[in-house]
Amino acid sequence: MLSLILHRLVFTFLVLVTNERLQRVVPQAPSEDPRYWQFVTDVPLKDALAARGILLGTAVRIEELRKDPRYRKHILEHFALLTPEYEGKMAYILPEPHKYRFAALDRLVAFAKKYNKRVRGHTLIWSGDLPRWFKEKEWKPEELRAFTEEYIFTVVSRYRGEIPYWDVVNEALDLAGDWDEDNPWYESLKEEYIPLAFHAAHRADPNALLFYNDFLIEGQGEKSDALYNRVKRWKEEGVPIHGIGFQCHLFLGFPDREEFLQNLKRFADLGLKIHLTEVDLPLAFGATPGKRLKQAILYRRLMDACLKVQGCEAFITWGSDDGHSWTGKSRWFSEPLLFSPSFTPKLPYFALLSAALEREGYSRLME
Ligand code: XIL
Repeated sequence: MLSLILHRLVFTFLVLVTNERLQRVVPQAPSEDPRYWQFVTDVPLKDALAARGILLGTAVRIEELRKDPRYRKHILEHFALLTPEYEGKMAYILPEPHKYRFAALDRLVAFAKKYNKRVRGHTLIWSGDLPRWFKEKEWKPEELRAFTEEYIFTVVSRYRGEIPYWDVVNEALDLAGDWDEDNPWYESLKEEYIPLAFHAAHRADPNALLFYNDFLIEGQGEKSDALYNRVKRWKEEGVPIHGIGFQCHLFLGFPDREEFLQNLKRFADLGLKIHLTEVDLPLAFGATPGKRLKQAILYRRLMDACLKVQGCEAFITWGSDDGHSWTGKSRWFSEPLLFSPSFTPKLPYFALLSAALEREGYSRLME
């Protein structure tokens, strides 16, 4: 009998010691802490990310904010930063020569100020969404140089101190990393238009952070390598470029975790800010539970990298919910965003929340 009691005492002691040692070796996953689930249910993703230094943003159309109270409530509750999907582009701002149209962007900036949201200016120089008059004109180099400086100064100085980030140049490279030649600025000025645009924006608002924004530069490859080498040279030449916007219009299976992380890091190591600017991960060719799970894991992969990279300060989806996506109602590229059309948070939302709430090391759980 005595030996049985002794045996139980020794066993109990060993269990206690092992458990205590286990606790020290394997830090308690926050999700094992009951307060974690309270936090998950009570705290919006945007606040959990703000605590980690990341602004959660989305693209919006100003008119929809004005006319749809449910949508407006959803945006105010879940996002800290707003990007005008269309109203900040030349096709909208300057539909005819010399006739600037700022009303919509003014309304967005006023809305953001009222509700303490940031605005990301998108985009000053892009070969997309250009007004017809601009595309049809034969631009002499001196003419286009003068117009570009006047346009950028007019737009950026109007919102000086109100729009802290600008996509100065958008999508200037082709998939191979060469200059996109179907670009009026490149046709007339060659690559000189890019430093010109950044210097003009910097003169207009010396405190704004100026970005180069593009797609399919998330992984390492021809296009991102070419961009890296060009940005490195621009920085050495004193071009006021402060950050890179990685659009992240991605499909399932991309990017490779480590490749994406190392790619962001090499740009950050140049002293650049990193914004994930147009994130959407559509389910290609129909939705299945397996694709939805993989989508959530890829969203988390993007956020894990952003959390790890010094200077990654914004995670912006291109649309707030599946009912407000530029992919439209396509069944071929469906369900790309964090919320359903009825503004219900989906699996990707919780994947990002778990990333925001968990300490370094536990993110591997989602490997
Ligand atoms: C898209 C908008 O979502 C569409 O509504 C518009 O018709 C075309 O432009 N990369 C960009 C964005 O930088 O400006 C584009 O937005 C999507 C691709």
